Amino acid sequence: MSASSHPPDPSLPPTPPGGAPGSRYSILAEGLTRRWGDKVALDHLDLAVPRGVVFGLLGPNGAGKTTCVRILTTLLRPTGGRAVVGGHDVVAEPRAARHRIGLTGQEPAVDEILSARRNLEMFGRLFHLDARRARHRAGELLERFGLTEAADRAPGTFSGGMRRRLDLAASMILAPEVLFLDEPTTGLDPRGRMEVWEAIRELARAGTTVLLTTHYLDEADRLSDRIALVDNGRKVVEDTPIGLKRAIGGDRIEVVAREPADLPAVAAVLARVADAAAPVVEEHELRVHASVRDRIAALTEVTRELHARGTEVEDIGLRRPTLDEVFLRVTGSSAVSVVPTRTATEEVGR
Ligand SMILES: Nc1ncnc2c1ncn2[C@@H]1O[C@H](COP(=O)(O)OP(=O)(O)OP(=O)(O)O)[C@@H](O)[C@H]1O
Ligand SMILES: [Mg+2]
Repeated sequence: MSASSHPPDPSLPPTPPGGAPGSRYSILAEGLTRRWGDKVALDHLDLAVPRGVVFGLLGPNGAGKTTCVRILTTLLRPTGGRAVVGGHDVVAEPRAARHRIGLTGQEPAVDEILSARRNLEMFGRLFHLDARRARHRAGELLERFGLTEAADRAPGTFSGGMRRRLDLAASMILAPEVLFLDEPTTGLDPRGRMEVWEAIRELARAGTTVLLTTHYLDEADRLSDRIALVDNGRKVVEDTPIGLKRAIGGDRIEVVAREPADLPAVAAVLARVADAAAPVVEEHELRVHASVRDRIAALTEVTRELHARGTEVEDIGLRRPTLDEVFLRVTGSSAVSVVPTRTATEEVGR
């Protein structure tokens, strides 16, 4: 799926700047449900995504993310509930809704034989840009996605990451009011991911609402204003990234000891700054950790105290809960890669 499936309908008036008038929400869904026989792929999902927000939809394989995106982009009819996108009901007014939507699906969709540049120009023409503007926009997008040098080659000769970037560029031809990105960075290398993130942020700054699905919690964490975790077609929890992390506990201080014999001393030091529970000692890892309220004060005090006692340690740092931990906590299974988010690290006692 790509932007190519959504040429604007000439019988409709152009989208007013900022989208449908009068609505604070770009996406509203109530009780959205999709069954396949006995299987419930999407189970009474409610969503309210304000305009200009980046909304992350996260969940393990088969959770219902793509099903949700397909319904919201009018490609699949729900078997229950309703959804309004860009001010238009996706079932009753699919053409009007489509007019306000951009989509990059899980599968690449650009033409294999035309050059990258010609592909983007063609999308521009499909969206009724004149030849000069289509050429100009193609050039801008090629530049933004680091494809200028490869512009005159056919996507058939591209790496997976380059094709992904071209596909994204195609869905951004017109900076739509609402952009749906189904796993936009799957298969990209770190640099490619960062380029895509920057493009998404730029679009959001310009007022586009973005709904993105991802398996990467670090990606959802960095990009999203709000995140919904889905599992078995149901929304398990929805909050800001910070809110989600806060919900499962605060910051942690972690110290890695040099010797097993140092562990009691390290635990005693951490006990002084721990907010409630006693420090946890992981003997195998030579690690002691404790949750703390004031992270910087805790780090300072622990560092000073260890130094005063002459206890040398391997590592000391502050850590925030990752969204992986949130996911594990709320679904009992991990969706994804574990990305450590050590936020400060410092060696002492040397
Ligand atoms: N055409 C179909 N016929 C029958 N079942 C389907 C169909 N499409 C999706 N499903 C089922 O609906 C459920 C949700 O699928 P969906 O593709 O929405 O998951 P997803 O969250 O996008 O997963 P992934 O992370 O693997 O992309 C799955 O159990 C899937 O097998
Ligand atoms: Mg999917």
